[in-house]
Amino acid sequence: MPDLIEGAVKVLRDGGLVAIPTETVYGLAADADNADAVNLIFSTKGRPAGHPLIVHIPSPKEATDEAWQNILSHWSRDVSPAALSLAKAFWPGPLTMILPKAKSVIPEVTGGQETVGIRCPNHPLAQSLLSQFGGGLAAPSANRFGRISPTTAQHVREEFSDAIMVLDGGSCEVGIESTIVDLSRWDTHGPVILRPGAISQQMLNDALSKAGVIVPKLADESGNHSAPRVSGSLSAHYAPKTKMFLYEKEQLEDLLKSHTQPASKIAWVHFNDESLTLKKLDSYALTEIILPDSAQLLAQQLYALLRQLDQSNYDVIAFEHLPKGEAWDAIRDRLGRAAVGSGII
Ligand code: TXA
Ligand code: MG
Repeated sequence: MPDLIEGAVKVLRDGGLVAIPTETVYGLAADADNADAVNLIFSTKGRPAGHPLIVHIPSPKEATDEAWQNILSHWSRDVSPAALSLAKAFWPGPLTMILPKAKSVIPEVTGGQETVGIRCPNHPLAQSLLSQFGGGLAAPSANRFGRISPTTAQHVREEFSDAIMVLDGGSCEVGIESTIVDLSRWDTHGPVILRPGAISQQMLNDALSKAGVIVPKLADESGNHSAPRVSGSLSAHYAPKTKMFLYEKEQLEDLLKSHTQPASKIAWVHFNDESLTLKKLDSYALTEIILPDSAQLLAQQLYALLRQLDQSNYDVIAFEHLPKGEAWDAIRDRLGRAAVGSGII
């Protein structure tokens, strides 16, 4: 393994790309201080220029305020008490913070914005790479633009040619992308979640209040401010090629009628529930896939499941709506976008 890391460090120093495992999804990493290397990420992913990237940073040996301040001040000109508290509470982990950028951060990383996204990932391979590399790594998810994020090394290999070096760190533990919290408009907006993830609003609020950080009253709750660009906030994203629709139980039969033809091969993805029996639907060619009842488990498996369904030549994927509640919010967000973007390519 040390040789592998050394090899990866060399590729990065030479301005190349390395796909790295993180606890959320695999990332496609380049030296965050090298404009040519960062541009290579955009051309490899087919990602439109101007979409900002997340800078991944190493974890300090001792997670004190001072140590985080040292690392973060290289990337941000204003490391607030809120940022330090959230770093101490959740890093290394599935949280990205948007902070005012430091002067030296190159515009290729920030999409020309005055802010920068920073995350300290919780995966031993990513951390040893970061500490040996000794700098920040810009890394979006290692998939082609708009497609399903990879949660295994094999998924990454399916996305790109063999020319990309992939560090195989097994299956990602969290399985969906990090929570993104914008702290750059703190005085007027407080902490704003731009992308839901495993770390919820409640967890952020609890950590801030435990650290004695006072969240400002919101001046503008109309949502009229100009939102920063987040590619994950486009309505179609994370999408399978196969047409997918989401359904509430009572709608399933009607939706099947309108979305399918008599010979259609249908993947019927749902939670275990005796009330809807196959009998009622036996005129359809259905393959049943039963979902786990836990949001954490489903997050872990979701992207691999969507990829597998996409490769199984179904005509349609019928996916049951997720239960209500904050625990399911992040997966509901990804699934909604996947459905909107599905069947387009
Ligand atoms: O879990 C994750 O966050 C994964 C792993 C690899 O760390 N990365 C990831 O990167 O999901 P990506 O590029 O697929 O999504 C990052 C999102 C994008 O939607 C981007 O627009 C947003 O973060 N972002 C990055 N910097 C930003 C900034 N300065 N302001 C607003 N949004 C930003
Ligand atoms: Mg992505």
